[in-house]
Amino acid sequence: MLNKKFPKDFLWGVAVSGHQTEGDNKNSDWYVWEKRGKISDGSTSGQACDFYHRYQADIDLAVKLNLNAFRLGIEWSRLEPREGEFDQKAIEHYKNILFYLKQKKLKVFLTLWHFTLPQWLAERGGWKNKRSVFYFNRYLEKIIEQFFGLVNFWVTLNEPVMYAGSAYLAGLWPPQKSNFFSFWRTVQHLGQAHCQAYQTIHQKIPKAQVGIAKNIVYFHSPKNPFDHQLAMIFNFFYNKLFYRLTKKHHDFIGLNYYYSYLVSNLRIIKKVRRVAVRSLRKKDLSVEIYPKGIYRAMKMFQKFKLPIYITENGLDDKTDGKRINFIKEHLEWLDYGLKKGIDLRGYLHWSLIDNFEWQDGFEPKYGLIEIDYQTQERKPRQSAEFYSQIAKENGF
Ligand code: BGC
Repeated sequence: MLNKKFPKDFLWGVAVSGHQTEGDNKNSDWYVWEKRGKISDGSTSGQACDFYHRYQADIDLAVKLNLNAFRLGIEWSRLEPREGEFDQKAIEHYKNILFYLKQKKLKVFLTLWHFTLPQWLAERGGWKNKRSVFYFNRYLEKIIEQFFGLVNFWVTLNEPVMYAGSAYLAGLWPPQKSNFFSFWRTVQHLGQAHCQAYQTIHQKIPKAQVGIAKNIVYFHSPKNPFDHQLAMIFNFFYNKLFYRLTKKHHDFIGLNYYYSYLVSNLRIIKKVRRVAVRSLRKKDLSVEIYPKGIYRAMKMFQKFKLPIYITENGLDDKTDGKRINFIKEHLEWLDYGLKKGIDLRGYLHWSLIDNFEWQDGFEPKYGLIEIDYQTQERKPRQSAEFYSQIAKENGF
């Protein structure tokens, strides 16, 4: 007997992005930036997981895990390596992956932009440049019809606010700036690009399902009214504002949820609880793993009256000692949300395989499947088995 049974047709899947897995993404701004020695473990994305060549075997692994959904990312810099020049070979390559996913009966979430830019666009100011909205739309117009019939969910942008913050406030990602006006312009252009993309996709495919994958950091507080107010303000600006800016341009709500912050005594306290993290690296202690936050995140968007998908959720856990609990506790809150009437339709775990974790290089391990980067050998972790059982039984 299952304790938690999920609705019929619930989507169980995994998410991956292009740059983090494909390897050799030479015409992108990240590739150039990594070569300048910016990655904390001294690596570059290099061959990454060689997903570019091994996608069939990796998709087969997802099928073996009984999954019925797959979130794939494509690389703009491969598709348009030089301004206005589209690479038919790259289009064919992604078409082949999409065909393969369809053949394997996996529902496809296709991410059109996941943090990386073609280098030519980065040289023109990237998303900070207003023209980026035009460039993004031109790129979409070129590819949408080619992928017609192969995509179930169009994810225009991955984590726009997280990106703008990391690139233009925290100075962590290229172009490593710390300027509020640049940050805000970037957010606005990303918002405009999404709205324009929403229209373009719908013009060509009226019934398309279009949305974004929005990073949610849930701010919560003890019962003190001041802290509560402050947490609400943070939740508004970080979590809700982008959806407000792009209102009426979503067919579903996509949420990437990893952690929360506790606001206490009018300060944000970064604290970890629930999932013990002693085995994790020190810097992971800066965030709070708070499974209930996934429920609160869904709750925040319930009033949009749109289907909700968890488009990412996962844990950096090299030993795989905590991942099973992590998944279980988050799914318990999803089940709770469903019982409270939330229209949740799917859960995509981040990630199928270990991959290149941006400025932290290859050290973090988010994969259900471990990768030996020397040999490119794939080894399913115990948590993969656990997750595959859940997908098979549609519950646990
Ligand atoms: C990003 C992924 C990243 C993951 C783990 C998400 O916010 O979309 O690209 O790998 O976090 O850090």
